[in-house]
Amino acid sequence: MSHLDELIARFDPEDARFIADPYPLLAELRAATPIFRNPRTGQWTLTRFQDVFETLRDRRLGRNYTHVATHAAFGRPEPDPRWASFHQHELWSLLSLEPPDHTRLRRLVAKVFTPRAVAALRPGLVSFADELLDACADRGTFDLLADYAQPYSVAVICSMLGVPRVDTKLLLDWSHDIVKMYELSTTDDMRERANQAAADFIAYTRALIAEKRQSPDGLLVSELVRVEDEGDRLTEDEIVSTTMVLLEAGHEATVNTLGNGMRAFMHHPDQWMRVVRGDVEAKSAVEEMLRFDSPLQLFERWVLESGVEIAGQPIEPGDEVAMLFGSAERDARRFDRPDEFDVGRNDPAHIGFGGGIHFCVGAPLARQEIEVSLTGLASRFPGLQLVAEPTYHPTFVIRGLTALHLSAA
Ligand code: HEM
Repeated sequence: MSHLDELIARFDPEDARFIADPYPLLAELRAATPIFRNPRTGQWTLTRFQDVFETLRDRRLGRNYTHVATHAAFGRPEPDPRWASFHQHELWSLLSLEPPDHTRLRRLVAKVFTPRAVAALRPGLVSFADELLDACADRGTFDLLADYAQPYSVAVICSMLGVPRVDTKLLLDWSHDIVKMYELSTTDDMRERANQAAADFIAYTRALIAEKRQSPDGLLVSELVRVEDEGDRLTEDEIVSTTMVLLEAGHEATVNTLGNGMRAFMHHPDQWMRVVRGDVEAKSAVEEMLRFDSPLQLFERWVLESGVEIAGQPIEPGDEVAMLFGSAERDARRFDRPDEFDVGRNDPAHIGFGGGIHFCVGAPLARQEIEVSLTGLASRFPGLQLVAEPTYHPTFVIRGLTALHLSAA
């Protein structure tokens, strides 16, 4: 077995030791090769920043292929009817569409998701944060994820969409079950739960849309019902998928960025003090939190046309490419001292929010949410400390902690 084959064999998303700290192996893979074929998934897997950066922008690849080829033509199985609700929920999601449908839907969504609307949310974000941080201060020790990041992030996206706050627990549970489908290896049990969650979530969203039709409230779901673009309207299925993708994407990654980033701070007290003292702006630190321990480690693309070559490797139409974000973000070809957590880097041009036509529509909101949280934490709890070393969920693609117990001391 060659050295590279041995490294590839160790790239095992089910290996708890790899998940606990994937970065040493990713560094070895990145040094050994820019691209390798993952024998477990058949995906061409990219390890380096520049290739990931360019692939995100390459229109010859797409997040979906059904607009140019049948499943059979690409040698892929038909979607499994057992998971019909899961597939239905994705059908009209921005993340499943390519132009021209993507362009039309994204333009309509962007109309109700403007930077101005996001900026106007700031006072609300600060008061959600204050309310939850007051309760954390009373507790003395708290779990940053369960006691703060999750309720905070869900409350933000729900208030933006016009979803009642009492339903947030339901949405959190559905969302956790659904996103398991995006892991590299899934069991039938995980699929069954994801499908059931999608079915319940769809029914919930349809009822919500009906309610907004009756009594519009000017919030996002209501606006999606109302919005029109050159006579074009969103269909009910499009509104369902859009609402669901915003609810899912709108909190999982934000929560994990806060958790992973605050863990990094607790391991680097000097960096924490730079933020506490105000030597580094929270805004700049947020970018480093996103880069250093990526909450989303892998994104996929399908090759749609012939003639595609990445890092010297010709790739055929119908082949799948996997981009290792966490590896790209630690590439020394792009970042000086990549393994150092340096909150003063002030380098927002990472790929944490993707690039090209699928660039994260929620990036301004996510940045603001994390900045407000970090500012609140640093001003209230300058002496914040880890109570216990946290552990990561046993999943590779969505990288997050199970809990982060901190002491406000
Ligand atoms: C720190 C938090 C977040 C991170 C790291 C993140 C990351 C990303 C990335 C990498 C993509 C591109 C995926 C690809 O190219 O395949 C993306 C797309 C997307 N994100 Fe985010 N995101 C975050 C927060 C949010 C929030 C708060 C929302 C919504 C309110 C959101 C909604 C979306 C949507 C709808 C897309 C699909 C856009 C499209 O396909 O046109 N995200 N996100």
